[in-house]
Amino acid sequence: MKILITAGPTREPIDPVRYLTNRSSGKMGYSLAAAAAKRGHEVLLISGPTSLDLPERVDYLPVESAAEMYQAVESQIGRHDIAIFAAAVADYTPAQVADQKIKKSGEQLTLTLEKTKDILGSARTVMKFEGTLVGFAAETEHVEENARGKCLRKNCDVVIANDVSRKDIGFDSQENEVMLVFPDRTENLPKESKEHLAYHLMEMIENLRPS
Ligand code: CTP
Repeated sequence: MKILITAGPTREPIDPVRYLTNRSSGKMGYSLAAAAAKRGHEVLLISGPTSLDLPERVDYLPVESAAEMYQAVESQIGRHDIAIFAAAVADYTPAQVADQKIKKSGEQLTLTLEKTKDILGSARTVMKFEGTLVGFAAETEHVEENARGKCLRKNCDVVIANDVSRKDIGFDSQENEVMLVFPDRTENLPKESKEHLAYHLMEMIENLRPS
C-alpha cells in the first residue's frame, strides 16, 4: 500500500533569524515510516526539521512551516491509501514575518499569532481523502475524551493518543504507551519502545478499513 506520514515539529518564522517551534523529536513518525517500509509499503515521509536519520527505502519531502506542510500534504495525499498524521503542527503562527531582524527596544514585545490551517482536519473535507485516516493526540488531561473529540471532529478512523504529562513516555523518551481511540471504542496498548510500538501500530493500521 501507499502510505503518507507527517512527522516532526514545524517552524513558524518570526523574522530572518527566529522561529516558534515545539518539543517534538519526530521519533514516533520516523519509527512508523521505518516500520511501514519494513512491512513492504511505499512510504512518503513529510517532515518538519528533526535530527533523525532518514529510514531506509522511504521517500522524503522536507518542510518547515505548518503552511508548507499543508501544501505538501494537499499535493500528495490523493495518491495514498493510508495517511498518518504524527507531526506536531503549530496551531498558531506569527501573523507577520518581519523582513529584517527585530531589534531589541521596549521592556515587552508582543507577537500576534494567527491560527494555522488544520491539515488533518482538512484531509476528508477539503482534500477529499477517502483512505484510512490516522491522527495523533498529545494530551495532558482527559486523554480519552479529548482524543475521541479529535477523532470525530477530524473524521479519523483512529486517533493514537498519549499522555504527555507523564515523564516516562512521550516527547523526549525512547518509550511510549498509547491509547487507540476509535470512533466507538478504545483500546489500551502496553508501554514499549517507540520502534516496537510503531511496528504494532502499522500492523493495526494496515488492517483498518476506511470509514
Ligand atoms: N494537526 C494537523 N494540522 C494542524 C494541527 C494538528 O494536521 N494544524 C494534526 C496532528 O498531526 C495530529 C492531530 O492533528 O494528528 C492533533 O491535533 P491537535 O492539534 O492536538 O488538535 P486540536 O483539534 O487542534 O486540539 P487542541 O485544542 O488540543 O490543540
